[in-house]
Amino acid sequence: MRHPDQLRCTIATDPNGHVLGFQSLKYAVENNPYGVSVGWGVIGTHIRPSAARLGIGRALFAYTLDAAFAQGLPAIDATIGAGNTEGLAYYEAMGFRTYRTQDGSVSKVYRINR
Ligand SMILES: CC(C)(COP(=O)(O)OP(=O)(O)OC[C@H]1O[C@@H](n2cnc3c(N)ncnc32)[C@H](O)[C@@H]1OP(=O)(O)O)[C@@H](O)C(=O)NCCC(=O)NCCS
Repeated sequence: MRHPDQLRCTIATDPNGHVLGFQSLKYAVENNPYGVSVGWGVIGTHIRPSAARLGIGRALFAYTLDAAFAQGLPAIDATIGAGNTEGLAYYEAMGFRTYRTQDGSVSKVYRINR
């Protein structure tokens, strides 16, 4: 959460404060380890398996998108393991589309229209 390139990290909790998941949005700087175009956002998501498919990921993305708009980002990258069918389906459902495939991973982009 305190990474210098962090733009937003949203945490979902239950009413008792137990963490159910999070979504991170980082800024892609020069020579970023993800090989993402400089100036784009880089997203990461994890939902506790027992809380999957309840709409938490969808709710988190609304906050992430707000941050991306506020920062003026042109696009957000999501890089997912090629065999991660739930991850691929989730980002596709959020509006991400495949733009690159590398050894064992699929990169999807969400383009932000203003
Ligand atoms: C992928 C993940 C982030 C989805 O989060 P979630 O809170 O379960 O997602 P939501 O319930 O908000 O689902 C939103 C939409 O994504 C799609 N989706 C989510 N999980 C899916 C699955 N297992 N199979 C197919 N589609 C899925 C659906 O279209 C869903 O909408 P619907 O439920 O109305 O059909 C979560 O399962 C997770 O953290 N998985 C492990 C880590 C991971 O793979 N992270 C992402 C890649 S790095």
